[in-house]
Amino acid sequence: MPETIFRNWTSDLSRDWGKKPIQIDHSLSQNELFSKDALAELIERYPIEHYSLMRTSSRGEEKKIWRRGEVGGLSGHEVMAQIASGGLWLQLRELKLVDKRYHDLLQSIYGEVEQRVPGFDSFNHEMGVLISSPNAKAHYHADLPGQALWQIMGRKRVYIYPAEEPYLPQEELEKIALTGLESALRYDPEFDRHALVLDLEPGQMLTWELNAPHRVENHDELSVSMTTEHWTEEIRREQMLTVANGILRKHFGVSPKRRSTEGAGFWAKAVLQAGWRRSPWYKREQRKMMPVDFRLAPGTSTTIVDIPAYVV
Ligand SMILES: [Fe+2]
Repeated sequence: MPETIFRNWTSDLSRDWGKKPIQIDHSLSQNELFSKDALAELIERYPIEHYSLMRTSSRGEEKKIWRRGEVGGLSGHEVMAQIASGGLWLQLRELKLVDKRYHDLLQSIYGEVEQRVPGFDSFNHEMGVLISSPNAKAHYHADLPGQALWQIMGRKRVYIYPAEEPYLPQEELEKIALTGLESALRYDPEFDRHALVLDLEPGQMLTWELNAPHRVENHDELSVSMTTEHWTEEIRREQMLTVANGILRKHFGVSPKRRSTEGAGFWAKAVLQAGWRRSPWYKREQRKMMPVDFRLAPGTSTTIVDIPAYVV
């Protein structure tokens, strides 16, 4: 019998899935698809439109750096060695489109969740791999779909905050839903007093309630993690309502209060947001991709060369 993806599942996890932060053991850090060799091979053939290689400031670097680049002709192992030496992160997005083996794995993951969580029915699954430098940080933000973070190599500290005021102002969530930009959330160090703080180890995964703000700090070592995303009918309705409320507030100057995802009010808002998706506002507000303007140069420590900027 093939090994299951989740380990030590309990009835408490079935009860709490999607409702509060939960940590579950998993077998993916031992899966051949996530070995260093498999990741190196994946990096070498990953299409540039599906990856983001970012140069960021590393610890001790005063200047704020935020640039997008390409891996160039480096071997996958060289790329990982440079990430391990600092100031880089590499996100392999839409993994299920790039390699069918990961697509099948994603299906198995949600198949197991559906078996274990009564009534859970999800769709539009996505997965990505994030390879990031020692001490790299993901800033305070909230995501729109259901989310899980799976640790494969290295450790990271994850801070999860309640999905409510003041951690997640309704108006800010609407902005994220309208623009697709996650940087709109304001972080206050005071929030940490109410955060759930966990050190995530290889072989552990975390999932949390919808839209819960979070931030992540790598320990002083290379980190490889996988993220998965999903939608359910309930999440889709929440999203439609948030978008509709955002339109009402931004373009019609009203402060919407209702959060019901049923009844006549909901359906009026559902029609409103569907119309907006076809409008020119929507296209203009979509996330614009950053131009690519550097390439990694050979070597095992982070070295970049400038190239003429282009948009992928
Ligand atoms: Fe996130």
